[in-house]
Amino acid sequence: MAFLFILPTWPIDVWTAAMRKVAPDLDVRVWPDRIGNVEDIEYCAAWLPPPGVVKSLPNLKVIMSLGAGVDAILKDPTLPGNVPIVRVNDPDLTGRMTEYIVLHVLMHHRQQRRLDENQRKKIWDSFPTHAARDLSVGIMGMGVMGADSAVRLRDLGFRVAGWSRSPKTIPGVESFAGEAEFDAFLARTDVLISLLPATPDTDGIINRGTIAKLSRNGPFGAPIVINAGRGRQHVAEDILAALDSGELHAATLDVFTPEPLPPESPLWTHPKVTITPHCAADSDPETICAYVAGNIRKHQSGEALDNLVDMSRGY
Ligand code: NAP
Ligand code: GLV
Repeated sequence: MAFLFILPTWPIDVWTAAMRKVAPDLDVRVWPDRIGNVEDIEYCAAWLPPPGVVKSLPNLKVIMSLGAGVDAILKDPTLPGNVPIVRVNDPDLTGRMTEYIVLHVLMHHRQQRRLDENQRKKIWDSFPTHAARDLSVGIMGMGVMGADSAVRLRDLGFRVAGWSRSPKTIPGVESFAGEAEFDAFLARTDVLISLLPATPDTDGIINRGTIAKLSRNGPFGAPIVINAGRGRQHVAEDILAALDSGELHAATLDVFTPEPLPPESPLWTHPKVTITPHCAADSDPETICAYVAGNIRKHQSGEALDNLVDMSRGY
């Protein structure tokens, strides 16, 4: 039995070293040049696998995403339909995302970019501030990541609601579910966060129409958007137009289509946009390799795999 890494864009030596450390007995192979006999490979772990690579492994038993999202694996049209896919659900990854979401909600709430600008210009301007309870935060996607961020933001005093396919029961967090409740969710939301998976249903969900339905009753008079889900979920032109017209107060974007964000994108230099390079929640090699190795051991001893992707839902 062998295990294969398919990581065309990640530092492969770091990942193989981490896997050797947590699972010294595992026969670790690397696509494309250290793959050996493809018939040996029963498990693979991938991030952005090129189409056709997974199909070329005839004895594959499980495909593992090295992140929470599986969109890059599912988009391979040659993907074998009968091989289970497992995604990452790990407290380390979730904690990193929660830090990012809390950081950016607070950054907008406390107007840190305005303060930075004032410092650069040596302007002492102690403008009025507002309380966390004055800001309604709405999280699209109330899975592992969304629920954790919701609880932390609630504990800081923000008015928090979540929107997902199915309703959730989290004390102090209002729940909205499905298309029928989307407009009501938007109408109460001053800060819209996406922690949705990329699926055909969520593509382009942050568009001009969605932005127009957001609350304008918050302290800034216009809403704020934070997208740490996937780039496919926001329409960049709509965000830019809404920022320029004043329909949107500010945006934080961590994910883009395409990635890397091209230098010519106007998002880079827009004064109301904060850009981060898809780093909201990085996969830590040792932590995630331990998670992957644990799942392999479970599968080999006949136990159920953790965090299986539901192919019919696409996440
Ligand atoms: P998850 O546990 O699968 O949660 C997904 C949530 O989205 C669920 O609450 C689900 O609703 C909801 N959802 C899916 N489709 C929907 C739809 N059409 N309408 C309404 N709600 C919908 O996933 P997760 O672990 O929280 O991760 C979420 C996403 O975060 C990943 O897929 C990935 O794209 C992104 N991510 C980004 C980074 C980064 O660095 N930027 C890092 C990690 C993850 P139900 O609960 O009803 O099923
Ligand atoms: C990162 O984007 C992930 O899906 O984990």
